[in-house]
Amino acid sequence: MKILISALVVIVVLAGAALAYALGPSAIATVERPMPESFSGAEVKRGAELARLGYCNTCHTVRGGDPYAGGYAIETSFGTIYSTNITPDEETGIGRWSQEAFSRSLREGLDREGHHLYPAFPYTHFTKLTDQDARALYAFFMTRTPIRRSPRENDLPFPLNWRPVLAGWKLFFFDSGRFEPDGNASDTVNHGAYLVEGLSHCGACHTPRNFLQAEKRDDFLRGGEAEGWTAPAIAGDLPTPKGWTEAGLKSYLTGSFTADHGVAAGPMQPVAENLAAVPAADVEAIAAYVLPKMRSGAGKLAPAAATSEQGGNGNDEGRVLYAGLCASCHEASSPARRAHGMNLADSSALNEATSRNFVNFVLAGVQPPEGRAGSFMPALAGSLTDEQLTVLAAYLRHAKAGLRPWDDLGKTISNVRETMRRADAEPQR
Ligand code: HEC
Ligand code: HEC
Ligand code: HEC
Repeated sequence: MKILISALVVIVVLAGAALAYALGPSAIATVERPMPESFSGAEVKRGAELARLGYCNTCHTVRGGDPYAGGYAIETSFGTIYSTNITPDEETGIGRWSQEAFSRSLREGLDREGHHLYPAFPYTHFTKLTDQDARALYAFFMTRTPIRRSPRENDLPFPLNWRPVLAGWKLFFFDSGRFEPDGNASDTVNHGAYLVEGLSHCGACHTPRNFLQAEKRDDFLRGGEAEGWTAPAIAGDLPTPKGWTEAGLKSYLTGSFTADHGVAAGPMQPVAENLAAVPAADVEAIAAYVLPKMRSGAGKLAPAAATSEQGGNGNDEGRVLYAGLCASCHEASSPARRAHGMNLADSSALNEATSRNFVNFVLAGVQPPEGRAGSFMPALAGSLTDEQLTVLAAYLRHAKAGLRPWDDLGKTISNVRETMRRADAEPQR
């Protein structure tokens, strides 16, 4: 039955594509590149903050590359999509795009010439942007340094490399439309909803997706995936045993270490780094909107009886590994502040149904954002064998979380090691 429905959807998507191809959205004429002086300082400043709130830098800048010049690779289950150059270069960037073309790309997922864009670009969320915010973003990007750099060709199989197919996808999964405030909610909560559902697209990672990569609306923020990490549920049943407070959430969202929830790492790290650079009122609004969704259910309570002293399951080797490799930072307070990790009993990574994040943390460690001070844990990929990590994980799951060992552990360890090998081998682009 599931296969039949899948096949049906695929057929309709292709038919939609053919239709949309025939009708075809139109190109918007080029303009003379606007003079930077034509924008007000206040507009450019808010544009910079909005660019932070939408993490434009994360996806449009390669490591060590020119800001916003594109080429950043986004791996999907179908292939690799590369971001474009959004500096105002007239040949390779968006220098000759009008305000109208720019706003349409963010809110309708179309480039200036009318080609459909891949939803790896989160326009399914950016569609909620107000005219005013789209104008401020335009002012910000048009006043950046133009960089000449041609976008890299996507690496996708047929028929997915044929953009008209996206018209069919959009027919099913894309709701174009501006944000509509809830009349019963406060201005703060409405602003938070506008950011979380729109520009800051929390659901792009924290909402599960269907087999065609569309977010499942009914499971909004109930746990998804991002770049080989699990983005834990932040609504409904949470994996974290400790509840969230407003102060704790705001600290976590802006990259500070919190005793109950650790520090934002993996794909959440650049989110927090950006949120640390926006006005407090924006973060406040995000927290005000998300927090009530988080109270609804702590996943499970950490068993009071389990302590790190118990060997458990006769797993003495696990206990010894933990004492030798981890306890100095994860038990009580370690003297070096930046090497102080949380009590692992409270860690979402340890309490999640999948071992993904736990393995990511242990093998890759935690490094602060480039050029910043912050929480540090060494990468232990070279210090632990697969067998040792398996034994250690079983010990911690039992002693700290009172849970059975993970079923997916062996597979996850080899996947994560493979991903790390590929990242190391990758040449600087
Ligand atoms: C999650 C990654 C991601 C984020 C975040 C992101 N983009 Fe993009 N963006 C992309 C990708 C990938 C494409 C190319 C899509 C394609 O080729 O179909 C793209 C395309 C675009 C385009 C179309 C350019 C062209 O030449 O066709 C514009 C404009 C753009 N992004 C602006 C922005 C702005 C402004 C922000 C922040 C508010 C932003 N993007 C945030 C991934 C991202
Ligand atoms: C690019 C993907 C991505 C985006 C966008 C994103 N997150 Fe996350 N988030 C993650 C990942 C991955 C983790 C797990 C990282 C960790 O444990 O350090 C995480 C962790 C969290 C946590 C901690 C959960 C726990 O149980 O420990 C909270 C809270 C959170 N995110 C809130 C948000 C909010 C609010 C937004 C939008 C403003 C957001 N995230 C946007 C990927 C993302
Ligand atoms: C040099 C100190 C140090 C050592 C040694 C260390 N860690 Fe960490 N660990 C940290 C810091 C700092 C963090 C980031 C703050 C946080 O999230 O607790 C962290 C984070 C983690 C997390 C993520 C917690 C969460 O949900 O946010 C896990 C899981 C973890 N460490 C497990 C281990 C294990 C298992 C070992 C031993 C094999 C280990 N660590 C050794 C310092 C250390």
